[in-house]
Amino acid sequence: VEIVEEAGSTNALLAARAREGAEAGLVIVAEHQTSGRGRLDRSWEVPPRAALTFSVLVRPEVEPASWPWLPLLAGYAVHAALDDRADGIGLKWPNDIVVETVDGPLKLAGILVERVDTPTGPAAVLGVGINVHQTPAELPIEAATSLEQLVEGVPDRTEVLGTVLASLETLLPLIEDTDALRRAYAGECVTIGKTVRVDVPAGEPLTGTAVDIDAGGRLVVDTGAGEVPVGAGDVIHVR
Ligand code: BTN
Repeated sequence: VEIVEEAGSTNALLAARAREGAEAGLVIVAEHQTSGRGRLDRSWEVPPRAALTFSVLVRPEVEPASWPWLPLLAGYAVHAALDDRADGIGLKWPNDIVVETVDGPLKLAGILVERVDTPTGPAAVLGVGINVHQTPAELPIEAATSLEQLVEGVPDRTEVLGTVLASLETLLPLIEDTDALRRAYAGECVTIGKTVRVDVPAGEPLTGTAVDIDAGGRLVVDTGAGEVPVGAGDVIHVR
């Protein structure tokens, strides 16, 4: 584990190290990111030392069809490490860790997985951002929360990092059995059963009931006119 005082994005830094031949298991933690990245080309901006921002290098030796499961598996593992810390912590498809409230889910952690081609084969950078100490005004988006607002006392970022890394280490082998992963993931995903609106990257938003996760890790939405698998997009839990 390497800790740097400042990075543009730990994902970008770790991707560069992967291209230079870094081995699986390298973790880069930044005390501050100056251009943190989120899913769907969004930025992920937090004040120095307020969040836990890090990336983990993996080199999965699995068939290409299993790669789309990596973001879901990363979310599953981060969720497992945070789940017991407060009531209502859930896993929102594809890989947001949220706290469910009467006003809808508040985001506690987000994950950005990026594939990198390296001289020794394809690698993946698992980027994790966990809101730890932020006050409501310091959160990266409005519908968000931080661990400090959920637990008693002041959470310790080093302890949180240790449990998340241990969880990743224990659960990453599930990438070799995507059938078991699908069942495990679906069992923890709070999106299933919800009425959702999905803003897809291109085309009209989709509304319906989220009913399942399919064999490719896609969210299956029953629109009333049939079941539609969704591979990417922003999911809004309507109720
Ligand atoms: C999202 O919810 O949209 C994903 C947010 C991911 C943020 C983390 S912070 C560490 C790593 N480095 C980045 O630039 N992004 C990820």
